Amino acid sequence: MSEGSRIPGFYKLGLAERRAVVSSRTRVDLAELEHALEAGGLDTATADKVVENVLGIYGLPFGVALNVRVNNTDRLVPMVVEEPSVIAAASNAARMIRQSGGFRAEVVESLMIGQVQITDVEHPADAVARLEAATPRLLELATKAVPNLIARGGGPRAIDVRDLGQRCIVLHVLVDCRDAMGANLVNTIAEALGPITAEIAGGKLGLRILSNLCDRRRVHATCRVHARELVSSPRSSKPSDRDSDAPEELDGLEVVDAIVSASRFAELDPYRAATHNKGIMNGIDAVVLATGNDFRAVEAGAHAYAARSGHYAPLAVWRRDGEDLVGQLELPLSLGIVGGTLRVHPTARLALKILGVTSADELAMVAASVGLASNLSALRALATEGIQRGHMSLHARSVASAAGALGDEVELIAARIAGVGLITVESAERALAQLRSSR
Ligand code: MEV
Repeated sequence: MSEGSRIPGFYKLGLAERRAVVSSRTRVDLAELEHALEAGGLDTATADKVVENVLGIYGLPFGVALNVRVNNTDRLVPMVVEEPSVIAAASNAARMIRQSGGFRAEVVESLMIGQVQITDVEHPADAVARLEAATPRLLELATKAVPNLIARGGGPRAIDVRDLGQRCIVLHVLVDCRDAMGANLVNTIAEALGPITAEIAGGKLGLRILSNLCDRRRVHATCRVHARELVSSPRSSKPSDRDSDAPEELDGLEVVDAIVSASRFAELDPYRAATHNKGIMNGIDAVVLATGNDFRAVEAGAHAYAARSGHYAPLAVWRRDGEDLVGQLELPLSLGIVGGTLRVHPTARLALKILGVTSADELAMVAASVGLASNLSALRALATEGIQRGHMSLHARSVASAAGALGDEVELIAARIAGVGLITVESAERALAQLRSSR
C-alpha cells in the first residue's frame, strides 16, 4: 500500500465513502470492489458447485482493520467476523503499536507435513532405519507426484520417520507448498508414498493425510508499545462525575504491569489460556475467513501447538522492557493465496488485493500481527476497565438496527441506549419512537 493504513475518522464515513477511500488507497478498482462485495460475492449457482445440498448463501460482515504496519509496510487488512468490536479493537491496538514502528514478523520455515502411517511392523527400529536410508528414493517419488508444484519452485524437502510404539510407525514428508495452503498437494504426496513406505517398512499401510499441527510452518510476530500509548481513555477527572463503580484509572506503567500480569495468568492457567488464545484467534480467524482460507485447519493447528508441552499455554506472551510493553506471538499458520476457495470466491480474491500481499508467507505475517493486536486490545481492556463498556457500546449499534433504526438513526439510538446502560431491543424501540416523534 502506498498511502498508509492510518485513516482517521474512517468509521464515521458512510459505507459508500468507505469503499471509495479503500479503493483509492489500495488502487483496487471501485467497480470491482463494489461487485465483489455485493451480496458477499458468491452467487447461489456457484455455491451449488462448491459444497453439497446447497439452499443458499450465508452472509457475514466484511470490514477492514486500519493502522496495521508489518515489517515497515502498511496494510489495510480485510476481516470477516460477526462479533462487534473485533475490528475496532484490532485497529485501535495497531494504532498504538505503529507509534513504535509497527509489527515485526517472520515465517520460521515454511514446510507442510504429510503423514503415512504403517501398522503391524515386525521390527520397528529396523523399519525406521530402512526408511531413513530410502530417503532419496522416497523424495524422488514424491517429486514425481506434484509436477506443477515443482514447476513453481516448491516440492518435497525431507523425510522424517518415528516409531510410535505398539508396532506402529509414521513417516513424515515435509513439503514446501509455496503460496498454496497445500492440503491437496500434501495429501497427493502422502498417497503416492503410501505403498512403497509399507513395503520398505514391512508393515500394513494405514492413513495417508497431512497434519494440521504444521509446526514446521510457523509464524512469529512481535511488537512493542510505549506505556504512554496504553493509558486508558481519559474520562472525567472530577471524582463526582465518575461512575461510582468504575475502576480507578491507571497510568501507563500500571497498565503495562497489569497486562504482564494478565499474560502470566494465562501462562499459569489453561482455563485462562484458552480465552486468551480465543482473543488472538478473533483477529487471525477473521483474516483467514476474509482471504478464503481454511479456518478449521488454522484453529486445529493453533490449539495443538498451544498444548505441545503437555500444558496448554498462551500463544502470545507479554513482558515489560523499561517503559515498553513487548508482545511475542508464535503459532503454526498454513495459509494460501492461490487455489482452493480463491478460484471461486471473488470476495476472497478482493481481500487479497486490498491487502496487497504477494506471498502466502506475507499473508501469514499479517494475520499473526492482527492476532497480536487483538490480544493486546483484549488484555488492555480486561486489565483496566473491563471489556463490557466498549463491547456493549458497539453491540448497541446492532441492537439499534434490530429495533428498526435506519441511516443516522442507528448511531443516535446506539448512543442513547448505551448512555443509559440499557442495551435491549425494547429500549432501542422506545428511543426510536421518541426520536422519530421529535423530528
Ligand atoms: C472475546 O471475544 C475475547 C476475549 O474474551 C479475549 C480475552 O479474554 O483475552 C475478550
